[in-house]
Amino acid sequence: MCGIVGYVGHRPALEVVLGGLRRMEYRGYDSAGVAVLDGAGSLTVERKAGRLVNLEGRLDETGRDRFRGTAGMGHTRWATHGAPIDRNSHPHRDTSQRVAVVHNGIIENFAALRAELEADGVELTSDTDSETAAHLIARAYADGPTAGDLPASVRTVCRRLDGAFTLVVAHADEPDLIVAARRSSPLVVGVGDGETFVASDVAAFIEHTREAVELGQDQLVTITRDGYEVTDFAGEPAQAKPFTVAWDLSAAEKGGHDYFMLKEIDEQPEALANTLRGHFDRGRIILDEQRLSDQDLRDVDKVFVVACGTAYHSGLIAKYAIEHWTRLPVEVELASEFRYRDPVLDRDTLVVAISQSGETADTLEAVRHARAQKARVLAICNTNGAQIPRESDAVLYTHAGPEVGVAATKTFLAQVAANYLVGLALAQARGTKYPDEVAREFAELEAMPAAVQKALSTVEQVRELGRKLADAKALLFLGRHVGFPVALEGALKLKELAYMHAEGFAAGELKHGPIALIEEGLPVVVVMPSPKGRAVLHAKMVSNISEIQARGARTIVIAEEGDDTVRPYADELVEIPAVPTLLQPLVSSVPLQVLAAEIARARGYDVDKPRNLAKSVTVE
Ligand code: F6R
Repeated sequence: MCGIVGYVGHRPALEVVLGGLRRMEYRGYDSAGVAVLDGAGSLTVERKAGRLVNLEGRLDETGRDRFRGTAGMGHTRWATHGAPIDRNSHPHRDTSQRVAVVHNGIIENFAALRAELEADGVELTSDTDSETAAHLIARAYADGPTAGDLPASVRTVCRRLDGAFTLVVAHADEPDLIVAARRSSPLVVGVGDGETFVASDVAAFIEHTREAVELGQDQLVTITRDGYEVTDFAGEPAQAKPFTVAWDLSAAEKGGHDYFMLKEIDEQPEALANTLRGHFDRGRIILDEQRLSDQDLRDVDKVFVVACGTAYHSGLIAKYAIEHWTRLPVEVELASEFRYRDPVLDRDTLVVAISQSGETADTLEAVRHARAQKARVLAICNTNGAQIPRESDAVLYTHAGPEVGVAATKTFLAQVAANYLVGLALAQARGTKYPDEVAREFAELEAMPAAVQKALSTVEQVRELGRKLADAKALLFLGRHVGFPVALEGALKLKELAYMHAEGFAAGELKHGPIALIEEGLPVVVVMPSPKGRAVLHAKMVSNISEIQARGARTIVIAEEGDDTVRPYADELVEIPAVPTLLQPLVSSVPLQVLAAEIARARGYDVDKPRNLAKSVTVE
């Protein structure tokens, strides 16, 4: 949510900063802006509402050569305080226009700070919380104990801010340095040769360097051409964690696809294989940074899964597998609801917090609540060193690689796989499965990348179907057992990408109300259970399809290959490979992702950047 970047080096800063923003635009696209220090005491700023392309157009009109300098910063916004219009776009400046600030997050006490500034006669020019930081920093730099010291001025102001924030700050009087600070929101440093970067995400500088440094909570970094210096908010030297980014530029590019999402759908077999790799060794399931002992896992008497959106759907699938394999009760809860209803937690509760970004504020707060109640928290995350894994007792990383499309696809499949690993690790520790059974389950999981590859052979058929459905008013999705969360996820994908009304239902619930929605020609996507693995459910599902067909629905059936019983009920049949029942979501989700993407495309929407959304949601 909001992408920020800062640069001090030897190249023209404007182009480096714009390049970084291009790669981070998935974090928000309500507005964009840049500021460049020219080295001779002036600060040039341009900002524009709308997508980055609008800013670039504006720069072309007004002249890019105004931006002379090799230090600068940029921002791509997902609006929180203040409408997405030019004057609310970042960077924000103080009254003297010598300080520029870009901000990600929310300054919760901004109303009080704003009132204080206004009482002192400061005229604020935007509706944002962020602008207050620019004025406060300018005042701290101009006068008092921190006068003339930009890092110290920023530290002083950070100590006054409540909420979650990342700030990047430049001052016209300090042409060779940029200061950045973080609390809860993400911030990484990129260390190049004679150049240094700060950004919300390594994607912003991966083109220039893979050497990165992860900042901790309440830390401030000052970057120059020669490197970086980290302190805490009190000014004491602080440790930050260096790491090398495991992927390269090609992972952050479209690679011949029209959209990142389509590339990411294609990458799912690899994402799965990478997520599973190394997790079975000498007959045992191994979790990554396992700060939970086997005894801790044995002591678990209840599991909560907390997550949002697509990650929540992966958690719903986890419930079926974990309960089946471990006989532990599993509750799956939307992270945004979890802490507000006072769930019953103690030290024997395992909370599994699933988050691709590792930044989602709702999930982070759920983790904090769980830990405050002494529960143990295991994070499942796709982003190295993000806040959620940092605050958890243990972490299992999904190795899906960077996901740029705002709608989660490959990270969803990787989360589902990671959930299975957690289920097997618990079963192993608790002895609810013999070692040879665990080995067999893992072998079945290892066969899934190939099965997903096979499921991808449905892409062309589903795309054609998507084009035919582009004018539909609404779509329903039905499933049973693990097919139910798949139906929910199929509906979510369609809502967010194609802006269509879509609902997922447990097929058995249909007759309790939603069947009233069925009318002539309404497309209904049905995720069939395996006729062999779940014969009873399969038979019931066949009845459900005939009930809706009788009422005029147009049925699109996702069924296991060779499932001939379902053929007469399918207006359109999409065949997926036969796999063990609990693992079916890994293959049945694929056509639903493609369907949503193609309907959106046929309706003329940007599949990678659906309206009103951003990739990581750092506000509650
Ligand atoms: C939907 C989607 C969102 C995220 C949700 C949680 O395609 O991507 O629903 O799944 O915002 O995000 P993370 O996993 O980063 O916590």
